[in-house]
Amino acid sequence: MILVTGGAGFIGANFVLDWLRGSDEPVINLDCLTYAGNLENLVSLAGDPRHVFVRGDICDTALLADLFSRHRPRAVIHFAAESHVDRSIHGPGAFIRTNVEGTFSLLQAARAHWQSLAGPERGAFRFLHVSTDEVYGSLGPTDPPFVETRAYEPNSPYSASKAASDHLVRAWHHTYGLPVLTTNCSNNYGPFQFPEKLIPLVIANALAGKPLPIYGDGMNVRDWLYVGDHCAAIRAVLERGRPGETYNIGGWNEMPNLEIVRTICGLLDELHPDSPVRPHADLMTFVADRPGHDRRYAIDARKIERELGWRPAETFATGIRKTVEWYLENRNWVEHVQSGAYREWVQQNYGERT
Ligand code: NAD
Ligand code: DAU
Repeated sequence: MILVTGGAGFIGANFVLDWLRGSDEPVINLDCLTYAGNLENLVSLAGDPRHVFVRGDICDTALLADLFSRHRPRAVIHFAAESHVDRSIHGPGAFIRTNVEGTFSLLQAARAHWQSLAGPERGAFRFLHVSTDEVYGSLGPTDPPFVETRAYEPNSPYSASKAASDHLVRAWHHTYGLPVLTTNCSNNYGPFQFPEKLIPLVIANALAGKPLPIYGDGMNVRDWLYVGDHCAAIRAVLERGRPGETYNIGGWNEMPNLEIVRTICGLLDELHPDSPVRPHADLMTFVADRPGHDRRYAIDARKIERELGWRPAETFATGIRKTVEWYLENRNWVEHVQSGAYREWVQQNYGERT
């Protein structure tokens, strides 16, 4: 079986669902259910013995030791993290705790487990660390995209904490020989993404007739990848990646935020013709910028294609259409995650922006 951390979050839940669609190998899903963890994402697995959910913290060393000795996973796929840049600006402590200390605890527990294995079991064990392109910092308009050998220049508390975790993972390989794999991926979008991130926030606000907040001039550029493609890339790295290597994962799809928001508004005009707020683009509102806002990210994903044969299957046009359709069909899901705590966050993050 495999141990997945953070499997009730956006990418982790998509990964668990994809995994069990294609395999009968069981999954232990360790997640402490922060505001971002949601068991509704996994409701289709209710009663499925291949999915074992454990509510717990990756910083809990006793729990980790127990899980490894009881279930003896052949691999760890580590998604659990605090993941939202804006939240890291308001409260960096949780990011250091989960992303740095939590990764440290998990590495130690995985190392003890791996060292207890022998023969082929030991040779086959893998620790796959899911990281981000934000560790590389910000690009100028004509700079080449990020390659795996680029120096780390993280600029936000979130990206600094992820960079620290990447360094720990690297060190556990070089010092102890733990067979690790690291992936650095660009911006994901798709079903089950919490409506604090740009794409689901814009869809949810547009459906509610609320302003669509665009930071700064809206010309910050991100590379966008459909979440199902990210899950396929992680499976390829797990199966065929070389221990100790890092793999950049991206969608070959750079776009400024304004274009993303306009595309979503156009799709909502088409797919939701009864909406009282058409054209949805009328809701677009420029607000104060994010402090330290990275200008541009771009991924050179040639290594994973060359070595592992992975390329994204979705274009942005196909992926964003599926995503908007999913949010239109799952309005209950959005309503359920927009709890009191989430409303407080909206007030904190957007309340004082002009
Ligand atoms: P998310 O915020 O949606 O989910 C994170 C999950 O981790 C939640 O279920 C949460 O409950 C759980 N979690 C948080 N702290 C925990 C702890 N201490 N112990 C156990 N569980 C804990 O995040 P996501 O967008 O799905 O991102 C998953 C991973 O992928 C993160 O490591 C993130 O850095 C990385 N990543 C995300 C993106 C993106 O665009 N979303 C892109 C590249 C990399
Ligand atoms: O690049 C990968 C990263 O992508 C992941 O590591 C992070 O976990 C994930 O959150 C994401 O980070 P970003 O900061 O790029 O994502 P976010 O959706 O928060 O913002 C995308 C862009 O949209 C960014 O330039 C800021 C802008 N933005 C965001 C919000 C929430 C707005 O203009 N308005 C908004 O309300």
